[in-house]
Amino acid sequence: MNLESELYNSEHIILESIKSFLSKTLPQLEWDRSNKEDTVLDAGCGPGGTTFQFVLPLFPNVKKILAVDLVPEAIEFAKKYNSHPLIEYSVANLEDWSTLKHWEGQITKLVSVYCINWLKNQQNAFRNIFKLLKKGGEAAIVFAVESRFYDAILEVQNNPKWSSFLTNIETLIPESHLKKWNSTHYKKMLEDIGFEIVYCRNEVTTDVMPSEERFRNFFSSMCVLIPHVPKDRREELKNDFIEELLRQNGRNSNGLPLYTSNVLELIIRKSESSKI
Ligand SMILES: C[S@@+](CC[C@H](N)C(=O)[O-])C[C@H]1O[C@@H](n2cnc3c(N)ncnc32)[C@H](O)[C@@H]1O
Repeated sequence: MNLESELYNSEHIILESIKSFLSKTLPQLEWDRSNKEDTVLDAGCGPGGTTFQFVLPLFPNVKKILAVDLVPEAIEFAKKYNSHPLIEYSVANLEDWSTLKHWEGQITKLVSVYCINWLKNQQNAFRNIFKLLKKGGEAAIVFAVESRFYDAILEVQNNPKWSSFLTNIETLIPESHLKKWNSTHYKKMLEDIGFEIVYCRNEVTTDVMPSEERFRNFFSSMCVLIPHVPKDRREELKNDFIEELLRQNGRNSNGLPLYTSNVLELIIRKSESSKI
């Protein structure tokens, strides 16, 4: 995924559904209890806005908060604009154990917000999360299993106006979207790895976007199609993508754009008696 970090961060919209999971559900479940020995990891932290605004307030007293992302530019941005003495940003790939193995068995709490949906092999990433956690450690994970964002990507990709540029490209549409996986699928995948399911909620949510301009900037910062068309046609593609996304999602009675996705919220635990 090649996030336009500056645009993504400056126009970052933290969806109400995510805010509610991080700032209401997790504290209600007392998931934010921590001590000075704990090490937290934010997996797929992007440019650090969520780490700074939502993960840090959950864990103000821990030893440190590691925050990792695949994209070096996002980490550079995070270090510059979302730094804090407790947060250590670095580049790592949740799908590549060699970039994570130095933290094996050390993480007490792992948070991951809207990253799992970008991964090619989610099962492998969950295995890596299992190996990163200490025995008794837990992960709170939220991501879209299906989303109108992906429907819009597919629609534009297959539009004859654009398809000559966009065939056989990596669109990062998750398998869960194409195969309509639900929580039952994930529970089985996670239990097979060895996790205990502490909390699992799967719901179709519709968020109201703050304005059309911010909707446009935020979603175009994640549009994987844009780099595949010639530079002089990128603005036109962006317009077509946003039009399609608006068409798929609709607007509320005040004319503000909506955004609908099927969101999975999870808290999973590596048991104290786990063998590895
Ligand atoms: C939609 S952004 C979410 C960023 C941040 N968690 C937030 O809430 O704003 C998804 C992030 O996942 C990162 N990502 C995608 N694949 C990854 C991987 N294999 N390992 C680590 N990060 C990855 C992307 O670079 C991107 O920053």
